[in-house]
Amino acid sequence: MDFPVAPAVSARLAALVERGALGYPNWGATPSPAARLFVERMTARWGWTPDVERVHDLADVLQGVRIAIELLTGPGDAIALHTPAYHPFLNSLTEMGRRTVSLPVGADRVDEVERIIAEERPRLMILCHPHNPTGHRFDRPELERIAEIAEAHDLIVVSDEIHSDLVHGDPSDRARHLPFAAVSEVAARRTVTVTSASKAFNLAGLRWAVMHVGHDDLEERLRSFPDHFFGAPNIVAVEAAVAAWTDGAEWLAAVMEVLDENRHRLVDLLAEHLPGSRYRMPDATYLAWIDCSHLGEGAVPRDIFRERGVEVSPGPQFGSEGSGHVRLNMATSPAVLERIVTAMGGG
Ligand SMILES: Cc1ncc(COP(=O)(O)O)c(C=O)c1O
Repeated sequence: MDFPVAPAVSARLAALVERGALGYPNWGATPSPAARLFVERMTARWGWTPDVERVHDLADVLQGVRIAIELLTGPGDAIALHTPAYHPFLNSLTEMGRRTVSLPVGADRVDEVERIIAEERPRLMILCHPHNPTGHRFDRPELERIAEIAEAHDLIVVSDEIHSDLVHGDPSDRARHLPFAAVSEVAARRTVTVTSASKAFNLAGLRWAVMHVGHDDLEERLRSFPDHFFGAPNIVAVEAAVAAWTDGAEWLAAVMEVLDENRHRLVDLLAEHLPGSRYRMPDATYLAWIDCSHLGEGAVPRDIFRERGVEVSPGPQFGSEGSGHVRLNMATSPAVLERIVTAMGGG
């Protein structure tokens, strides 16, 4: 993100340094204060109360995803995910020798999702909820269908909800995000939830995330590891997450206003500077998934834009569905966004 750090976060970190409190934390039992706050935040924000006994601190969200893959599946097993997909998920499957099962994105494609799952029999689904890179928001009916499919085909769902604070819509509407574990009691027992303050509050370099394990076998497996096997949380990252989640609401609301303006503005900017490109406004995230196939077969949009001075994520990184696409980060001011898109168009 191209925004200053939330004042609540910088004040808390400055105070930590001022006190010289960078030694071992004095938190008592695990999980960390940030992980405990996660329980409160989920309850207040989405009406879902994770079991604190099943909450684990992590270094990052990807670590949680990989732990679940490692402990719940074996080499050669199939794992399903909606594609185009956040590329570290795809890389995880390749590096870990799992077989990727691609699912189509869209509430109107759930029947297809079910057919593919029935055919391919994946053991696990990585649900990127909301979805990176398309910005798709899974609503209750779609989530309920996915939960039914999971139940019918004995699928474990790893729900990555790192973008859930970045869902657009009325901030007082608690239904704008529904944690997958909150869909039903049955869904909860098949779900591993991973999330972090790092995406919405731009703290990704600090390395802290949290995992809630609704799935009994995985929870048992995790408990069988000795303490510190997966490391221990970073005091700076935990303090930052606590500050963000306790006192960061105003900052986040202001950021959401800018992101909302940008996602709308991009429609006109693309029409003006990249006519022929196609873009569906994201329901969530600060990412724009842009189809630039109009640039011609064989053209590599990322390279063209790079030559014009703009760095975007290349679509093919997100799987074959990303061919001809790019992913643009919109977390900047409207003025900078305008410069970016003007430059993308060669202006
Ligand atoms: C869907 C998704 N999951 C995970 C991450 C990375 O999180 P972490 O750095 O905590 O692994 C990102 C970062 O962009 C993301 O978009």
